[in-house]
Amino acid sequence: MPEIRVAIAGVGNCAAALVQGVEYYKNVTDNTKCPGLMHVNFGGYHICDIRFVAAFDVNEKKIGRDLGEAIFVEPNSCARFAKVPKLGVNVFSGPVFDGVAPHMKESFRIYDEKKLGSVDASAVLREVEADLLINFLPVGSFKATRYYARAAVDANCAFVNCIPEFIASDPDWGEKFRKSGLPVAGDDIKSQLGATILHRNLIKLCVDRGIVVEETYQLNLGGNTDFENMTVEERLKTKRISKTEAVTSMVPYEVPTRIGPSDYVPFLGDKKICYVWIKGRKFGNLPVTVTAKLQVEDSPNSAGVVIDVVRAVKLALDRGVSGPLTSISSYAFKHPPIQIPDDVARQWVEDFIAGKRDV
Ligand SMILES: NC(=O)c1ccc[n+]([C@@H]2O[C@H](COP(=O)([O-])OP(=O)(O)OC[C@H]3O[C@@H](n4cnc5c(N)ncnc54)[C@H](O)[C@@H]3O)[C@@H](O)[C@H]2O)c1
Repeated sequence: MPEIRVAIAGVGNCAAALVQGVEYYKNVTDNTKCPGLMHVNFGGYHICDIRFVAAFDVNEKKIGRDLGEAIFVEPNSCARFAKVPKLGVNVFSGPVFDGVAPHMKESFRIYDEKKLGSVDASAVLREVEADLLINFLPVGSFKATRYYARAAVDANCAFVNCIPEFIASDPDWGEKFRKSGLPVAGDDIKSQLGATILHRNLIKLCVDRGIVVEETYQLNLGGNTDFENMTVEERLKTKRISKTEAVTSMVPYEVPTRIGPSDYVPFLGDKKICYVWIKGRKFGNLPVTVTAKLQVEDSPNSAGVVIDVVRAVKLALDRGVSGPLTSISSYAFKHPPIQIPDDVARQWVEDFIAGKRDV
């Protein structure tokens, strides 16, 4: 049986949605009955071929638990849409570094690292023979992300970077993975129907229809720990860059743009609300505005995309492809090594699956 051995850094809401998603779709056979995935059969891999083998977190209530239980431990607030049995997968105590901001220590129920000690992630990855490691750390985890990326390289393991730290899109890190013969995909996962893909496509529609775009903003509200973490502006720099470039790269001229997480509203839980606004000029220099509101369950919005990424990365491993994977990164991430329109990126992925594109 084919198998994709997956490890996770950060057992938060995105991990909860991913693990549930693999359970939820494990018996699906019909492409029309799996919303959120490109294909049931992705280059020969089914969803049920994904096998979790290790996880890392810093929450004292998650560490030492089975992954199937840890995904439902507070402060996680992801919707429950699948029954997950015990998976026989341990949550290990990861080194904290800058994964936990001072204002998040209580919410993340951080463990006493000095007293209990952290594991060597690279040794764990080697021991469980992980094919790839998914990074689901909080925004602003500069050092922690680099620690896990390095651990992946040292353990001969591919890396999927779902957060706005620049690894796949950084030429030096891309080269590190290439030299090690390992694929890397990233950065900052682009949800199935989230604020970024909606905004990108509304802007592209305006540009394609000859509208001169004059100003645009995207405001986002949410109530999960991702939003709570992002209440501190210093942690947000790369998130703003990632989200802003994803939109401005669709316009061939400069546009005053403001994009980012805008407020933390605790009672929203894992619901996210996004407002997109575009102002421009059309024929006769007359004004036009577009306003859109999107409301989604935040974490499950990314899980299907990650399931496709995992299978693309495993195909790359099977084919001996190394370095940044440009097709799946452009399709599935906000800050890929190459920004292209989403329909082109999807075709690149189809070509990659069919073996017509190398990366
Ligand atoms: N749709 C989406 O939800 C979406 C889209 C794009 C990007 N992202 C990004 O994905 C990441 C994960 O999102 P989330 O909603 O799961 O966040 P979360 O806050 O629910 O989970 C983060 C987890 O990381 C753990 N953690 C903190 N420091 C750690 C360390 N050093 N080692 C191991 N674990 C550590 C925390 O305890 C927590 O369990 C965030 O950076 C988010 O911005 C999410």
